Amino acid sequence: MTQRRLCRFEEIPEGGGRGFRFASGPDLAAFFVVKRAGALYAYVNSGPHLGTPLDFLPDRFFDRDGRHLLCSTHGARFRIEDGYCVEGPCAGKSLRPALIRVDAGDILLGD
Ligand code: FES
Repeated sequence: MTQRRLCRFEEIPEGGGRGFRFASGPDLAAFFVVKRAGALYAYVNSGPHLGTPLDFLPDRFFDRDGRHLLCSTHGARFRIEDGYCVEGPCAGKSLRPALIRVDAGDILLGD
C-alpha cells in the first residue's frame, strides 16, 4: 500500500474518531482512526461478519460510555486496543488493523 496522509494528530479529538474513504465502488477503501488517552488506534471500517461500516452516523465509533468501539448497525462492541469483538454478532472476531504512524504531526496510513 502506498502511504497516504490522513490528517493532523490534533484533528482526531480525544475520545473521538474520524473515518476516511478512498476511491469508490469495488475499489473503496475505508478506514477509521480513534484516539483514547492520547493514543491512536486505526482499523479498516468494516465489521467482521457483514462488512458494514461501524459508524452509522459519520465519525461515531465509540459506544455510549466510550469504553468500546461500536458497530452502530448491529450493536457489536470491540476492544479499542486490538479490535477484538467482546459482544454481539461478531463476538470472537476482530476488526482488521490499519497501519498508521505519526510523522511531524501528520497521521500517515500505510507502510
Ligand atoms: S458487521 Fe456490524 S456487528 Fe458485525
